[in-house]
Amino acid sequence: MGAKPSYRMNNGFRMPLGFPVENFASALAYNAQPGDIFVATYPKSGTTWVQYILYLLLHDGVPLPAGQLLGDSVPHLEEAGGAFVEALTAPRAIKTHFNYELTPHHAEARYITVARNPFDCAVSFYHHTRGFERHYRFSTGTFEDFFECFLAGEVDWGDYFDALASWFAHRDDRNVLFLTYEDMKLESRKAVAEIASFLDFAVAEDEEKLTEIDRHSSFDEMRQSLDRWSSRRPDDMPAFIRKGVVGDWQNHFSADQAHRLIEKFERRAAVSGFGNLWPDVLDAARRMT
Ligand code: A3P
Repeated sequence: MGAKPSYRMNNGFRMPLGFPVENFASALAYNAQPGDIFVATYPKSGTTWVQYILYLLLHDGVPLPAGQLLGDSVPHLEEAGGAFVEALTAPRAIKTHFNYELTPHHAEARYITVARNPFDCAVSFYHHTRGFERHYRFSTGTFEDFFECFLAGEVDWGDYFDALASWFAHRDDRNVLFLTYEDMKLESRKAVAEIASFLDFAVAEDEEKLTEIDRHSSFDEMRQSLDRWSSRRPDDMPAFIRKGVVGDWQNHFSADQAHRLIEKFERRAAVSGFGNLWPDVLDAARRMT
């Protein structure tokens, strides 16, 4: 038996250690409001990137000032709790890792979701879990150890494929914007424009501003901003802006792991229909086996 990360168990739901159980409960009970904007993702799928694009769109493209935390403007619902989110001024911008079914709903709220291929997501999640000792007690864990937990869906926020299936089923809803991390990497400015126009923001017509926002939310600028943002919680963000590429999984996966993840992907895709999201990644993984 390999090492396993530690979690706080809450009615069968895994949360990072230190996440207040009462905030989780109040998050579930939060009444979504018309105008609320949710960034709803499975962990390690590009949440922080979209959170920051959203922040910039709401602040006329002006970067987050030094010493402020992105999480104060776009809080994580199940970490900060329902009351914190309710106290935000409208339009509220809210991060959540809940799947569609658990996310608070309102027909006039909007939901931006980002899906990332499971191979890179697993690797990113491994580095995250290893990096946050106080949340997971896993600093000496290996990728092999983490992979088993990821594949079994025994990680915080549950099974990757449950989350993907739940949001994918709503990808054509009027108030859902379904993005992939890989498309964002290919054409980030297009994603910024798509988000602006999905939200009916006037800036969607402002080509210069969109370019500026795309620049400020680039990997390099976000990485540089990190020192300024994280001054209040120095150990709290490094894993959120780590490498930022598609394909890092090839540096971590064995042929056997690739084979088993492909098998689960295909099994779940046959039921939920998301089989064509990442043909290149799946082809590369098949070649490895
Ligand atoms: P890696 O660990 O592969 O580098 P989340 O915010 O959902 O936790 O996702 C974190 C992942 O998104 C990390 O992936 C991180 O590097 C990547 N990321 C964050 N900001 C990014 C940006 N501006 N451009 C590209 N990737 C970014």
